[in-house]
Amino acid sequence: MSKPETMAKPNDFSRRDALKAGAAIASAPAILKVYAASDAVKFGVIGVGSRGSYLVDHLAKLDTGRCVALCDVNQQALDETARKVSTHPRKYKDYRELLADKDVEAVVIAVPLYLHFAITRDALEAGKHVFCEKSLVFKADEVHALRALAAEHPKQILQVGLQRRYSLYFQSVKKMIDDGVLGTVTHIHAQWHRNPGWTMKPGGKDNPKNWRLFREYSGGLMAELASHHIDVADWFFGAHPEFVVGVGGLDFWKDGREVFDNIQLIYSYPGGRKLMYSAITTCQHLPILCSQRPEFGLVVMGTAGAVEMTLGSDNALPTALWFREPEQATASASWAQAGPQKGIPIITPATQVDWNNDSFLSRESKLARRWLYDKGLMLPQEDRNPVDTELESFLSDVRSGNRPRADLEVGLADSTAVILSNIAMDENRRVYFKEIETMGLPVPPAPATAKPSAPPSPAIMKPAAAAPSTEPNP
Ligand SMILES: NC(=O)c1ccc[n+]([C@@H]2O[C@H](COP(=O)([O-])OP(=O)(O)OC[C@H]3O[C@@H](n4cnc5c(N)ncnc54)[C@H](O)[C@@H]3O)[C@@H](O)[C@H]2O)c1
Repeated sequence: MSKPETMAKPNDFSRRDALKAGAAIASAPAILKVYAASDAVKFGVIGVGSRGSYLVDHLAKLDTGRCVALCDVNQQALDETARKVSTHPRKYKDYRELLADKDVEAVVIAVPLYLHFAITRDALEAGKHVFCEKSLVFKADEVHALRALAAEHPKQILQVGLQRRYSLYFQSVKKMIDDGVLGTVTHIHAQWHRNPGWTMKPGGKDNPKNWRLFREYSGGLMAELASHHIDVADWFFGAHPEFVVGVGGLDFWKDGREVFDNIQLIYSYPGGRKLMYSAITTCQHLPILCSQRPEFGLVVMGTAGAVEMTLGSDNALPTALWFREPEQATASASWAQAGPQKGIPIITPATQVDWNNDSFLSRESKLARRWLYDKGLMLPQEDRNPVDTELESFLSDVRSGNRPRADLEVGLADSTAVILSNIAMDENRRVYFKEIETMGLPVPPAPATAKPSAPPSPAIMKPAAAAPSTEPNP
């Protein structure tokens, strides 16, 4: 019979044992899976600026794909990225030429937001599978048009770069929520706080590198930062918001930018559940996870417990702490609620001991890591950057035809939230998510006016088709 997990006693191990075991594991030869080159998905990357070039680096680690083409209007970015790719990709300055390249099966799109729709549309029409960075689209009409277009191309994969969906930590917390471990989850707090955030480069609006700061090209903090956390809230709550209210300000960076430099929003989900969101550009402190991480993270709050979590970078991978809700205090002892509380590290399968199959060293190493977590000497981290997982998953879905976790509907819901949140802040009103259903659709032609003397015809007596309403739905 296998020993249950709870019988593990990580505290029995000294720190020296831990380090010894860890070193032994680290020096064990890696087992490499070799993928047949002919099976590798031949892909091109459109837009190799900051994100595109980062994705190229991560894609290079995967033997399930082969970079055969790159595209950027900026020759320097194109040349620099091409130089680091060992597969000698063809270089294009016009994305339509890359899409006409028959060798390209799939494209990764990492251009500025205002170009996402046109390039994704053209890529689908050219028969390519698409991975497009978040936010998927920019405007309400693009939400409707992309949904219709994707329905015409059901065999092509469309994935959005919402990498939290691919994190084991985020998947584990989703399972805790679904299994009731946190009780009823009523609130999520999320933040992405930077200092100083985006800076204006010389040239203002004429410099393409400043695209994020101008409304013609960008959805601002909503599209660039909040989109990630709204997607997580939708996923964790298993629902979309009913309405959003928010305050956005352009209060601190007087450099000619047009987008807000700080935003605070509240999203109301069915059942009164709420997401509270904040993005600022004047302080990067993150008051969760023992303040060991900066900038972004979220707290998921339920009637039986809470989880603090974040996704990091290549050097600081995702992590999470679970806090069990204390026993109900009596009125006379309510002061006790201010006592210390210790977060329990949520561990990934990589640190879960398999008593039947793990080798001695593997088991010791796992227990040692858990001991370090338990002592607060180490923050438990996911073993893999979810960006690697999302890209690997995209390539695998291209081959298998499986539906991506961050698929079209996930991407469109996320874009809808971005679009409606900006409207809520711009128009200073409560915006209902149902409004997207009529927003951005062509206005039906007005019925012909009848001559005053003619008797009213049944057609004229019928009420005119409603124009898209800007009034909140009840
Ligand atoms: N998922 C994430 O965590 C994440 C992180 C960062 C950025 N992003 C997203 O990636 C996208 C790109 O952001 P970025 O930071 O790389 O911006 P960037 O400005 O650094 O890069 C954009 C690149 O696109 C190129 N480009 C512009 N027009 C083009 C065209 N018509 N054809 C080909 N190339 C063109 C530019 O020359 C530039 O090199 C954005 O949508 C952003 O939100 C996602």
